[in-house]
Amino acid sequence: MRILLAEPNIKMVHVLSTSCSLRFTSSWKSYSQPLNSTTCPTSLSLQTFKSPFRKLVLQAEKPQRSCTVCATTFPITDCGPHQRSKEPSKPQRIMVIGGDGYCGWATALHLSNKGHKVAIVDNLVRRLFDHQLGLNSLTPITSIHSRIRCWKSLTGKTIELYIGDVCDFEFLSETFKSFEPDAVVHFGEQRSAPYSMIDRSRAVFTQQNNVIGTLNVLFAIKEFREQCHLVKLGTMGEYGTPNIDIEEGYITITHNGRTDTLPYPKQASSFYHLSKVHDSNNIAFTCKAWGIRATDLNQGVVYGARTDETEMHEELCNRFDYDGVFGTALNRFCVQAAIGHPLTVYGKGGQTRGYLDIRDTVQCVELAIANPAQPGEFRVFNQFTEQFSVNELAALVTEAGKKLGLNVETVSVPNPRVEAEEHYYNAKHTKLIELGLKPHLLSDSLLDSLLNFAIKFKDRVDRKQIMTNVSWRKIGVKPKTVTA
Ligand SMILES: NC(=O)c1ccc[n+]([C@@H]2O[C@H](COP(=O)([O-])OP(=O)(O)OC[C@H]3O[C@@H](n4cnc5c(N)ncnc54)[C@H](O)[C@@H]3O)[C@@H](O)[C@H]2O)c1
Repeated sequence: MRILLAEPNIKMVHVLSTSCSLRFTSSWKSYSQPLNSTTCPTSLSLQTFKSPFRKLVLQAEKPQRSCTVCATTFPITDCGPHQRSKEPSKPQRIMVIGGDGYCGWATALHLSNKGHKVAIVDNLVRRLFDHQLGLNSLTPITSIHSRIRCWKSLTGKTIELYIGDVCDFEFLSETFKSFEPDAVVHFGEQRSAPYSMIDRSRAVFTQQNNVIGTLNVLFAIKEFREQCHLVKLGTMGEYGTPNIDIEEGYITITHNGRTDTLPYPKQASSFYHLSKVHDSNNIAFTCKAWGIRATDLNQGVVYGARTDETEMHEELCNRFDYDGVFGTALNRFCVQAAIGHPLTVYGKGGQTRGYLDIRDTVQCVELAIANPAQPGEFRVFNQFTEQFSVNELAALVTEAGKKLGLNVETVSVPNPRVEAEEHYYNAKHTKLIELGLKPHLLSDSLLDSLLNFAIKFKDRVDRKQIMTNVSWRKIGVKPKTVTA
């Protein structure tokens, strides 16, 4: 069962003003037939709330229930198992929450290409953050509808689309009842540490959005799809930087003569990272209490933009963030090098983290799905392939830049974060390798191609977005404008 929402209505969300939070209320019922335009919501209204986030309400005539959207103008056909006979794992019905985002879009395409039946669930709030803060992806990205249409026309494969907020349980229930997932990959969170540290309202939004969204997913699995495997994106940042080796989720401790295997201690360093820790605790508890099967993928920092699938057509191009709020270390350095901006190292630059290529993100998720956790099991994988300090990354980019004739300089800027700038770091990451991960390591040629990618789009760079004015110490209650 699915509902078709006429595309022009959806498109209206893209012209929202800069201080709105996109929220689709549960406002219509599931239908066994795709809706035509006469049964689609007929008007849009903005409700004003006290927080800086106002709600966008799509109003349907009636009946009023859940917003379940399949946005494709093509007839919905099942392009099931027969199209993927080479695949080792059984085709599954996979719901990708956050499938319009950076990791989610690449993963949705990859899983669809592998013959799985994929549905994207997303409220497009990431695009709204860009509008709010005056940011833009380095790469031009088309609407989710164009992306999905393009995929269909290239491959014949349908990706279903449900536009809505996973914090809205009624909406989420309808998507579960309609799509009936075997696995849910949950990318759908506010994922920027700096965004969560802009001001009080963004801190509250981040924790509410992430924690409630995940809680709703857990309740939906319990209520509607007990056997469904939850693959949840966590982050290596949950562990912090302890002065001992980081294990994969659990550590065996002997204390006063007694031994136990316990969850590895978490030392999150932003309101965003704290939301992830809370998610992990909620998931672990529900595995124990309700027998949910879950894999927590503690992902490192992702770099790159291209995957086999996004390369198939320019309309499938992934987003690539380089700004001070959403941009991540290596991607930012490549863009900075491409435009002749000094590489901005925060403080001493000894901050060391795990990194991985986006092609490995999609591979890891595929492996987790193909080898599901058992009922009641809360499984934790550290999802990264190599670790680097910020200084090491800057040196690598400088070297690779030289070969391309770029004069790359590095500056140390005051660290806006509260974090150790020199520390021990040794994190285990063997479980995904044991399942068959073939990593794409950061070689010279890969750095070349990343730099060339940044150079290709360098005319789209807004230099004002490079530096950040978000400060961990100065966060306050007053709503803050970030890029003015
Ligand atoms: N990008 C990285 O380097 C990185 C590193 C570690 C972990 N992760 C994790 O991976 C996941 C995906 O990251 P990303 O970089 O693709 O982020 P992203 O912001 O590009 O994508 C997240 C997507 O989720 C959607 N979303 C957010 N809240 C939602 C809600 N309440 N309901 C429905 N949709 C919602 C957004 O609109 C967006 O499309 C996140 O959970 C993040 O914490 C990312």
